[in-house]
Amino acid sequence: MTTRATVIGVGHYLPERVVENAEFEKTLETSDAWIKSRSGIERRHFAHEDETTSMLATKAAKAALKDAGLEADDLDAIVVATSTADLTFPSAATMVQDQLGMTRGFAFDVQAVCAGFVFALSNANALILSGQANRVMVIGAETFSRIMDWEDRGTCVLFGDGAGALILEAQEGDGTNADRGILSTDLNSDGRHRDILYVDGGVSQRTTGFLRMQGKEVFRHAVEKLAATAKTAMGKINLSAEDVDWIVPHQANIRIINGTAKKLGLPLDRVVVTVQDHGNTSAASIPLALSVGKDRGQIKQGDLIVTEAIGGGLAWGAVVLRW
Ligand code: UT7
Repeated sequence: MTTRATVIGVGHYLPERVVENAEFEKTLETSDAWIKSRSGIERRHFAHEDETTSMLATKAAKAALKDAGLEADDLDAIVVATSTADLTFPSAATMVQDQLGMTRGFAFDVQAVCAGFVFALSNANALILSGQANRVMVIGAETFSRIMDWEDRGTCVLFGDGAGALILEAQEGDGTNADRGILSTDLNSDGRHRDILYVDGGVSQRTTGFLRMQGKEVFRHAVEKLAATAKTAMGKINLSAEDVDWIVPHQANIRIINGTAKKLGLPLDRVVVTVQDHGNTSAASIPLALSVGKDRGQIKQGDLIVTEAIGGGLAWGAVVLRW
């Protein structure tokens, strides 16, 4: 018997306000046509000014608990992937813990920017496999609208706000790829590339800062590194493209998503795509896509899923799981 961290619940939350591409035409030298053709993005959600990351995360968490038929105190841990926590400290995760009314277990944040959810999922898997927790809520939640420079058309049209959550539970499998749950993970980072995607402020500099990106450079790394990490994660358990039901990629740019799928030898009808409606929600993008993909009827129990993401650091990775 082999312990597997298995998905038993999923949910998401998107802020009410939807901003169409055309809205940026009023204030910037840009167009719906440019944004759509260069990124695939058509609209995104922005949080209300009183709405914080932990609030979005809590709503996604409640939806996941409902989906699993659980109460907050049935969880042993909460891991929140975010780069836009409400406060410098405490963690967004402890705020979610409180807002859920969870009075036991432990909660902490993981910060790996757009790759955050993959890193959090891998950490939650390790907690479960090592016996430190039986049920872990893994949330990706962001309010990137708070770190946009609204005069920088090369970045501010690309990002959005939102949250998605999964609940993982320790279940027994027979140790084969037919098991449900997380089957393989692959994490990477290379700090030499930290200056192509970063925020030009931070606590230690007594500022908040804005997101800065050399888009073309990030793009160049993205397709190559995403395909490589997905192949590595699949290779660790001898899977090939034919075994995969769904690629659920980080949703930054449709051209990156298509380029990566092509390199992996997977047709586009096996890729869950939400970038047109959400924009790039950083660590929230994969759990949002998993939740929306399930609601659309794309993702079904037993499906073999490969998630992959890359972001600031650079940090990138992939997780293979059977839903
Ligand atoms: O989630 C973390 C990972 N992030 C990513 O994966 C993002 C990776 N990068 C990208 O998605 C793309 O590089 C972008 C969507 C950011 C940009 O697409 P691109 O095809 O690489 O365009 P570019 O940056 O090379 O810009 C092409 C032109 C430039 O004009 P010139 O210098 O050729 O005259 C830009 O100034 O497009 C211009 N431009 C815009 N034009 C209209 C840049 N932003 C805009 C805009 N509207 N919003």
